[in-house]
Amino acid sequence: MGSKTVLVVGGAGYIGSHICKALAARGDNPVVFDDLSSGHEHAVQWGPLVRGDIRKRAELDAAFAAHDIDAVMHFAACIEVGEGEREPLRFWDNNVGGVITLLQAMKAASVETLVFSSTCATYGEPETLPLTEAEPQTPVSVYGRTKLAVETMLSDVSKAESLRYAALRYFNASGASPDGDIGEEHDPESHLIPNALKAAAGLGEGRMKLFGTDYPTRDGTCVRDYVHVSDLADAHLAALDRLLDGADSFVCNLGSGTGFTVREILEAVETVTGMPVPYDEHPRRPGDAPTLLADTSTAERLLGFKTRRSTPELVIGDAWAFHRRVWGLEGKALPIKPDA
Ligand SMILES: NC(=O)c1ccc[n+]([C@@H]2O[C@H](COP(=O)([O-])OP(=O)(O)OC[C@H]3O[C@@H](n4cnc5c(N)ncnc54)[C@H](O)[C@@H]3O)[C@@H](O)[C@H]2O)c1
Repeated sequence: MGSKTVLVVGGAGYIGSHICKALAARGDNPVVFDDLSSGHEHAVQWGPLVRGDIRKRAELDAAFAAHDIDAVMHFAACIEVGEGEREPLRFWDNNVGGVITLLQAMKAASVETLVFSSTCATYGEPETLPLTEAEPQTPVSVYGRTKLAVETMLSDVSKAESLRYAALRYFNASGASPDGDIGEEHDPESHLIPNALKAAAGLGEGRMKLFGTDYPTRDGTCVRDYVHVSDLADAHLAALDRLLDGADSFVCNLGSGTGFTVREILEAVETVTGMPVPYDEHPRRPGDAPTLLADTSTAERLLGFKTRRSTPELVIGDAWAFHRRVWGLEGKALPIKPDA
């Protein structure tokens, strides 16, 4: 297969930037389309940045006209679950409305291949573990419902038109590029590992919140499946190749297949950083399932998926190396004292 030009929508964000890096590393050409609403210009390092909003058809049309695009990978979305409960219209507008406009622009440009970022949040509170793709999808958040709506839309459109797509349901994306150049920079950050690192380093409020200690799990805290962003990148390249080779549309989970409790992750953060993680225990948050754990056999079968860095030690080690640099902690005495 010759080198491909891929429109990476949301490529200035956490996961999208790692996929751009992986595409470029094997000789493909990523073209980032991003409005920088939550992404970062400094994360666009492997191809041009087209600044634009997916809800604006003319801006998408201009991007397709300016670049000879072979396929689209779509990462752009509102992702913070709590914000979705407070601002559902913004989530439906961006996460679903934005995809309608994107599909219309793709059709006009005769681009028929799409890799879409879906999520384990489309499953809600599962009955069977580990979760296979056949698990009923009953999301318990606005965020999850918008992602499920897109999956439904993609299925409908692909039956009537020549669109072929992969919907990849990520579990907890985590870690950073092993080179330390890009990583997770959400604001606000709601993900456990960066917040635990921040608390360990004495930054921010200096303490983190642990939600729910009475779940039916081995230590009472939620079990999650942490998949390294580099492993996600490998899976995206394989999904893209599969579609470009002519395969039918498909859906698959992307996780590590192993679950860790919140307390186990905090312990791993303490081991990696050599510092305690100060935290306060809070009641459960509505909508947090006790356990989310991927059955990865579909990804193994369709994509040859095999995780390489999805262990707590490597995920946290890579994230810590990245954050120490971007938070300016290298060479400083840690943890930072409150009055420092
Ligand atoms: N991070 C996770 O653990 C996780 C888990 C499951 C699924 N996902 C999905 O993966 C995708 C990427 O997540 P992420 O963590 O990299 O998020 P992110 O916020 O870092 O990246 C999203 C990017 O999309 C851009 N964007 C948002 N709205 C846009 C618009 N209207 N037009 C153009 N650009 C726009 C943002 O500027 C940002 O660069 C999302 O769709 C998310 O739902 C993430």
